[in-house]
Amino acid sequence: MNAERFETASEEETIALGERLAARLPEGSVVLLTGNLGAGKTTLAKGILQGWIHLPAEEISSPTFTLIHEYAEGVYHIDLYRLDTRAEVETLGLDDIFDHARLVLIEWGERFPELMPANSVRIELESAGQDRRAIQVTALRPAAPDQARETGK
Ligand SMILES: Nc1ncnc2c1ncn2[C@@H]1O[C@H](COP(=O)(O)OP(=O)(O)OP(=O)(O)O)[C@@H](O)[C@H]1O
Ligand SMILES: [Mg+2]
Repeated sequence: MNAERFETASEEETIALGERLAARLPEGSVVLLTGNLGAGKTTLAKGILQGWIHLPAEEISSPTFTLIHEYAEGVYHIDLYRLDTRAEVETLGLDDIFDHARLVLIEWGERFPELMPANSVRIELESAGQDRRAIQVTALRPAAPDQARETGK
C-alpha cells in the first residue's frame, strides 16, 4: 500500500497539511484518523475540512460529545471515542453515512475495524516530541490538485 510520511512542527503546520491533503480526497472518501489522545486528529481534521469546504478552523470543534458533526451537506466529522461497544456504534447508522457522504473523517474508528469501509484512507498521527508530529498517510491518490475533488479521479 502506498504510504506517504510527513512531519509537522506546530498545530498550524498540521492544519496547513490538512488543507493540502484535502485537495487529494475525492468525493466519497472515508478517512480514518488514528493516533493517541492529543496526537492531532481533530487538528488535522480542521485543516482537511477547511480545505474541502472552506470552513474557517474556528467553526470546527471536536465531535467528542456529539459523536457526529455534519458541517455541510454530506460532509461529516465523527468521533467514536466515547462509544465502547459495536452495538452502540451500530445505532449511529454509519453504513448509510458511508453510502451517501461526500466526505467522512473519523476519529477512533479503528477501534471498530469491522464497521469501517475497506477502502478508507488511513492517516496515522504520532507524537515525535513536544510539538512535532509524524503523520503517515496510506491509500491516498497521487497529487492531482485540480482534478481530485472535481472528478473523483
Ligand atoms: N504539530 C502539531 N500538530 C497538531 N497538534 C499539535 C502539534 N503540536 C502541538 N499540538 C497540540 O496537540 C493537541 C492536539 O489536539 P487534538 O484535539 O487535535 O488531538 P486529537 O488527536 O484529536 O485528540 P483526541 O484523541 O482527544 O480527540 C493540541 O492541543 C495542539 O495544540
Ligand atoms: Mg480529537
